[in-house]
Parts: sequence; C-alpha cells; structure tokens
Amino acid sequence: MSNINLEQILKTLTVEEKVGQLVQLAGVYYINQSEITGPLAKFDITDTHKYTAGSIIGVNNAKDAYQIQKEYLENCRHKIPLLFMADVIHGSHTMYPVPLGMSCSFNPELIENMARNSAKEAAATGVQVTFSPMADLARDARWGRNMETNGEDPYLNKVLSSSYVKGYQGEKLSAESELISCVKHFAGYGLVEAGREYNYVDLSKRVLNEFHYPAYKSAIDSGAKMVMSAFNTIESIPATANEDLLKNDLRKKLGFDGVVISDWAAVTELINHKLAADFKDAARQCANAGVDIDMMSMAYLTELEDLIQTGEVDIKLIDEMVMNVLKLKKDYGLFTDPFKNLIDKSDDVIGCEELVADAKKAADESIVLLKNDNNILPLSNKYAIVGHHVTSRDYNGPWSWQGDITKNESIKVVFSKDSNVTIVEEASKIIDIQDYEYVDTVVVFVGEKSNESGEAKSKTNIKLNVNEIEMIKSLKLIGKKVITVVFAGRPLDISDIDMYCDAIVYAWFPGSMAAQSLYDILTGRVNPSAKLSMSLPRNVGQCPIYYNSYSTGRPLSKAIDTYVSKYIDQANTPLYTFGSGLTYSNVQVKRVDFSDSIIVGDDLIIKVELENNSKHEAKEVIQVYINDLVASVIRPDNELKAFRKVTVDANSTATYEVKVDSFEFGYIGSDLNHRIDTGEFEVKVGLSLENTTNKIIRMEK
Ligand code: NOJ
Repeated sequence: MSNINLEQILKTLTVEEKVGQLVQLAGVYYINQSEITGPLAKFDITDTHKYTAGSIIGVNNAKDAYQIQKEYLENCRHKIPLLFMADVIHGSHTMYPVPLGMSCSFNPELIENMARNSAKEAAATGVQVTFSPMADLARDARWGRNMETNGEDPYLNKVLSSSYVKGYQGEKLSAESELISCVKHFAGYGLVEAGREYNYVDLSKRVLNEFHYPAYKSAIDSGAKMVMSAFNTIESIPATANEDLLKNDLRKKLGFDGVVISDWAAVTELINHKLAADFKDAARQCANAGVDIDMMSMAYLTELEDLIQTGEVDIKLIDEMVMNVLKLKKDYGLFTDPFKNLIDKSDDVIGCEELVADAKKAADESIVLLKNDNNILPLSNKYAIVGHHVTSRDYNGPWSWQGDITKNESIKVVFSKDSNVTIVEEASKIIDIQDYEYVDTVVVFVGEKSNESGEAKSKTNIKLNVNEIEMIKSLKLIGKKVITVVFAGRPLDISDIDMYCDAIVYAWFPGSMAAQSLYDILTGRVNPSAKLSMSLPRNVGQCPIYYNSYSTGRPLSKAIDTYVSKYIDQANTPLYTFGSGLTYSNVQVKRVDFSDSIIVGDDLIIKVELENNSKHEAKEVIQVYINDLVASVIRPDNELKAFRKVTVDANSTATYEVKVDSFEFGYIGSDLNHRIDTGEFEVKVGLSLENTTNKIIRMEK
C-alpha cells in the first residue's frame, strides 16, 4: 500500500474525473433497491456520471455492492474504487437500542462494543462508511432526531461520541478498520428552533464552542476521518456553505484533516435558503466553503467543471478536496482491496449468537426504571399484559432499515412462557367486563411507533395518544396496579399518566432483543441500571428543558417566588431529570472524600463509598457535578463532569475512585478560549442529582 502515490494519481486525473471523486450518487442509479432518506429528485444520470462518481450511498447488500464496484472498475479509466456509505446507526441487522437509549447506559465500553458489532455486520454486507455517530447535542423533546443523539449533556455526549468511533474503526483508521466513521452533523443541528426539523439554528459562538463542539472534537480526536455538515444555519449561513465554520472552526480549531461531506442535497438547498440563485451558485459557495463531497444534490456533478474553467472555484482547491477523498480511500485500504467488505458474508455474521447476546446486554442497560412505588416491580404475582406493543414487534426504532422486525420475538410470545401472565387483547376486556378479578396488576406496553420519531418527525404533541392515556387511567380507576412500559424515540410528556402508574419503565426502542430484555427486567432476572440521558418534561411548554440550565438573575428559590424566573402554571423542573433511574437494589452513598482545594491543572480524585443493602447485585452510576461559583461568563448550576458505572455486590460495601479531569473545571470564555478560574467551585457527588453530597473546594494557582 505504501507504494501508492496519491500525488501521482491526482496528476493523471482529468478535471471531470476529479469532480467525480467529489460526487456521491445513490445506489438506485446503479441497482434499483437502495434504502435512502431525503427526497430523491429525478436526475438524468448518464453512464459517464455513474462511472466517474467517487462514492455511493445506500446499497443494502454486499452482492449488489460487489457488482457495482466490479462494473465501475471495468468502466472507469482511472480505476480508483468507489466508497460505499450508509447509515448504520444502532446496529446493522442485529438491532441495538436507539442511541438515546444506549446513552442511558452511561457505559462507554458497551457503546464501543455495539459499534464494533455493527461494524462486523455492516462489513459483511457491503458497507464501508457509516454516517455515525451523531454528536449533536439534543435539548428539545419536540425534535424527532433526539433518538439518534446521546442526549442533553455535553460531557456525556463527548465521552460516548468517542466510543462510537473507536468501536467502528478501532484505534485509528487503517486497512484493518472495518468501517469508516463519519461524525455528524457539524454543527449544532440539535438546536433547530422550536424542535422543528431542518429549521433555523441561532446560538452564540461561545455556546457553540462550549457545549456543542466537544463531542464532534472527541469523535475527531478518536480518529473520525469524515464529518458531515449540518442542514441548519450557524450565524445565518447554512453550515454547508459556512466557510468560517468549516475552515476556521472545523479544520483549524478542531484539527480535522479528513473529508467533509454535505448532508443529503444540502448543497442545492442553498436555493431554498435564498442564499444561492441556482445550482451553479450553490456549488460555488459550498466548494469554496469547504464541502468536499456533495451528497446527492447533483450541483457538483453538473456545475463544478464550469466553475473551475471560469476560475470561480480554484483548481488548487479542487485538488485539495480530491486529495482528501483519495487519502481516505487509501488509509482504509481500498487501493489494495477494492472489494473490501463487498464479499457477502452475511450468512456467517448476521444474527450470530455473540451479536444477539450483546444486543440483549445493551437493551438491559438502556431501559430506565423511572418509578417503582411500593416495589411493585419485579413482578411476583399474577399479571395481565396489554397494549399495542404486546404484538407490534416494532421495537427497533428509526434508522433500522436492515433490522427486520418480523425477526423480533414479540412481547406476547416471550411473556407467554410465564405461568403468571394473562395476555389480554383489549384493555376494555379488563375494564368493561371486569372479567379479570384474579389479576390485580396490569402491565401496559404503549408509546411511539418507530415512524413517530427520527428524521423529519418533529412533534408539537409529545404525549401518549389519548386512547392509551384513557386506558391507563381506567385501569387504575377500577383498582388495578398499573405498570406502564413506554416505547419512544424522544422524551415524551407522560405527566397525564404518571400519577396513575405504580411503576413506569422507559424502554426507548430497545432493538432486536426488546421483548427478552423487558421480560427479564420486569420479572427481576435483570436488575435495571439505566439513567436518563435526557430529561422528561412536564409538558411541551417547558421545551427546551435540560438539567444544566443557568440560574438567571432572578432565580426561583424557596424564599422568593414572585418576579423570578418561573412559569405561573408549571414547575421549572422536568418530571424526570437527567441522571435519574432506579434499580431493584438499595445502594446508598455512605461516604465521599476529596480534598478542599486543588491547583489549576490538577485532577480532582474523589473516593466514594457505596453500600448495597439488598440481595441483588446492582450497577450504579456515580455522578459528579460541578458549579463554578464566580466565573467570567454565566455557568450552569450543575454540570456533569465525571461519571463511573460500577457494579456493587449484594449486601456489600465498596469504595470507588472517580477522577474529574482538570480540564473539566474550565469553560469557554467570551474570547472563545478555554479557561479555568481560580476560586470556589461547588462539587456535588451522588447516584443522581436529586441526592448529592456537596462540598465547596478552592481552585488555586
Ligand atoms: C439525511 C440525514 O440528516 C443524515 O443524518 C443521513 O446520514 C443522510 N440523510 C443520509 O441518509
């Protein structure tokens, strides 16, 4: 591979061939079977276009991908292989929980392993690049793509985004890597105004640098060699045409030296943004701004050659863009093996025991027990199950185009092995006929369908549907104990049912092993351990709501509650907060030790003694929050700065160390540089924000 001279290859390319490397076409133009998202406008794609394009999106099996590559190499002059890209987001064929669910595990190793397994399946089925991780910080429950994020916290997002990249690529991108990881969507896509998909984003450069960049940066530092630009605007310029964002911030500040790809058709969307007059203008702006590959807008395909000829896009810039693409192909080993990942190995890999077992573990650690009054769970007596998800098998969630739901075992099938269960088709049978006196507990499986969240699935009503709410109320009113299991791709407003439920289990979309995992959790075979990575609002009017908000000049307090920052009709707090989630054990923090002062540049080492006073081993998440008490820009009252998931044996006490990296005491100042203040910090340590041991420490020079 080392004798591949990219400079030499570049010299031999015609302008048309150079442009080709910067064009991505959908697989449908080659073989009519691809799964793609976004409007597929009709374009007149000729054989010349097909055999000069540099990459393909959305071919869904290795046999087709192999055939396309073979024909391509036979028909193109330069013999530079195509690169095959797709969205492998939370598993390829064996589905894991949606990323928002995965992030509730607070378990970086679990996520890295999930990404490694997805890479194995994807590599056996014709994919070379995945458009994952999505490192966008999410804060508004109305947005459909929350399901694809790591939630509302910048620190958790930073840690987990890195795990995805390491899992997909290994230590660094090389010929040994199974998948290339493309981090997206640069930048700030999670802040679309009012949670409406593809909408305008407005945020200060300081906040962008402080809360949003760290996760993209950690993905880049972990080796991601592709970045997708976002659909949204930053400072009133769409990211895809934003030179300051892509050149100054992404390349210079974050040190990215790989390939920038646009999102689907985002280049020509400049026309809708009323920033470009036509395709040519759009292509000119995006190429000059720093987008290397145009995903499916066709503007590069039809306009770049002319723009080069007129000098509106410098050929030197084109050469740099092409080199980025060639380097990626070389580093991944495509020049030595153009058919890498294109040999069909699906029979050996898909659904193999190890992958399925890991998907089960991931589901076990992603399902959040929010409420468990009088320890009604785990189930011990006779119970009935009801609700549309009992039979739906629709447990994979969005972005599971290869995950066949007919292969999922239904909740009905899995639970039917339990002698305590009665499966009820309609709740009305219990409510109207009162035929079920012998069951005093009903588990209802309700919530979103997969197609209610994900891309282009913004909502203004984030409640359960009216029938489900009525069913839960009625069951409670006739005296049943009600356990509600909620499927969702976003934090829903469940305040209508909260008071009628004895227990609430927030399942997200747990993937292929959903039913098995829910069975094990509800019956106590698995002790739940997940914590919310995104707060659940009390109603949609609170959105965006997140735990790490600012105190404001007029904070609400016990002492003062008028003319302060609050609603007159609702609390400021969410219904369930970030970091909360129960287990079946009783683990308490017995002792927390750390020094009263540290020197700028020192890490803070915290010793936490936990006691598990129960007969169940438990996984708990030690959470460390800080508050910089006097700073040069406003600070959130609570900021997660370290966490550690630990396993505490039954009836035991153990001490764990958690380190807060010195860097984490800092923030981005108004000059956009990172700084650490001397002075006082409040440090809060606990198993949730609701119950912490607090101490003020001094940061000294
Ligand atoms: C649009 C989505 O925004 C992006 O995340 C995805 O990777 C592309 N479509 C390709 O499917």
